[in-house]
Amino acid sequence: MKSASIQSLRYSITTALTQTRSPTLELLTQIDESLFCPQIHPEFSPIGWHFGHIAWTEAYWLQQLSDLTLSVPKTYQRLFAADGLPKQERQNLPAVGAIEEYLKTVRSQTLDYLATAPIAQQERLWRWLIQHETQHCETISFLWQLHQQRHLDIASLNTYQLSPAKNIEKMVATTIDVTEMLKVEGGKFAIGSDAVDALDNERPAHQIYLNTYWIDRYPVTCRQYAQFMTAGGYQGREYWSEAGWQWLQQYPVNQPLYWSNNADWLEHPVYGVSYYEAEAYSNFVQKRLPTEAEWEKAALGASLNCNHGHLIGHTTSVDTYAETSHYGCQDMLGNVWEWTASWFDGYPGFSPYPYPGYSQVYFDGQHRVLRGGSWATSSVGIRASFRNWYHPQVRQIFAGFRCAKD
Ligand code: AVJ
Ligand code: FE
Repeated sequence: MKSASIQSLRYSITTALTQTRSPTLELLTQIDESLFCPQIHPEFSPIGWHFGHIAWTEAYWLQQLSDLTLSVPKTYQRLFAADGLPKQERQNLPAVGAIEEYLKTVRSQTLDYLATAPIAQQERLWRWLIQHETQHCETISFLWQLHQQRHLDIASLNTYQLSPAKNIEKMVATTIDVTEMLKVEGGKFAIGSDAVDALDNERPAHQIYLNTYWIDRYPVTCRQYAQFMTAGGYQGREYWSEAGWQWLQQYPVNQPLYWSNNADWLEHPVYGVSYYEAEAYSNFVQKRLPTEAEWEKAALGASLNCNHGHLIGHTTSVDTYAETSHYGCQDMLGNVWEWTASWFDGYPGFSPYPYPGYSQVYFDGQHRVLRGGSWATSSVGIRASFRNWYHPQVRQIFAGFRCAKD
């Protein structure tokens, strides 16, 4: 690489690191200190842990990469390690100020190192570190929202009732046809990415063949989902898969986790649903969820001009961003993650990076793929090839869905 392009690469990485850090620190100061240590949800580490883990990861991988020895508190090395303590044992955390200090100490050493580091050979790791930080920030965002949601539930126990039918009467006439589907002609399609910022699970890009299918123009809206609820969707065994029905018996819910009865939100995508709810709704309308390949093909040409990166701070109505993908779909990127029918697995020729615990350990037939990013996803994670994954019963994430059919 020529020295001018090395300098511009160095500049680009430095800028990306700095731009990623500012929302992290903003979150750190916005969230009440009392929320740092408690485990808000048993499947997720406490909010404060995620901040420390961001610093730990940066320090750990930099030391792997160089002959650098960073000066960081010894006790943090096990506390914030990805494979350190079990999640329930991560509640005994240093004070917020100390965690902030940790982030700043590591970062200043990182920037010193970056000034002369052989970055041409390291770009993939830098891009991974940047994305890693943003992923934990999104986790922090949904844990925070989950906490606030519970607070709301308790505070308005008597008034916060499920009454979608009433809201439908209040609705203003909508100009968009939310039931519209678009045809995607069958043919070869190159799934995945080999770009330097592509994560291990996106690689290698490879050709696959897809039959012709139809896909929703928009994500399923609250208005549409309300029809499922009022039609007895949560009571109708026929809409649910075996696993979905079992889940519903165990967790008898009757509305999405992030449901609002405010009529202004009817055109927003439904979110806070598990994979099972997405699947049941799809059966209700006699459609199905798209596979991740169908989703990615339909998203080709979608632009970064979408609801992401906390620019708005919540979902937006599904026709807010008029630009479409090549096939005419809207809101493929941003707004809400979308559940797909696919199990998370490695593409042919998969190779773990930077460690098997990042993606590979989740190739276990227990995680479904989500695509597209949400209103809280940073721009560095917004692309058609990006793959997210969660257990099908998870509802805390900012996930909705759209449907497909043959
Ligand atoms: C991509 C959001 C599923 O936060 O669990 C972060 C990625 N792995 N640190 C997560 C991840 C290690 C991950 N998700
Ligand atoms: Fe991590």
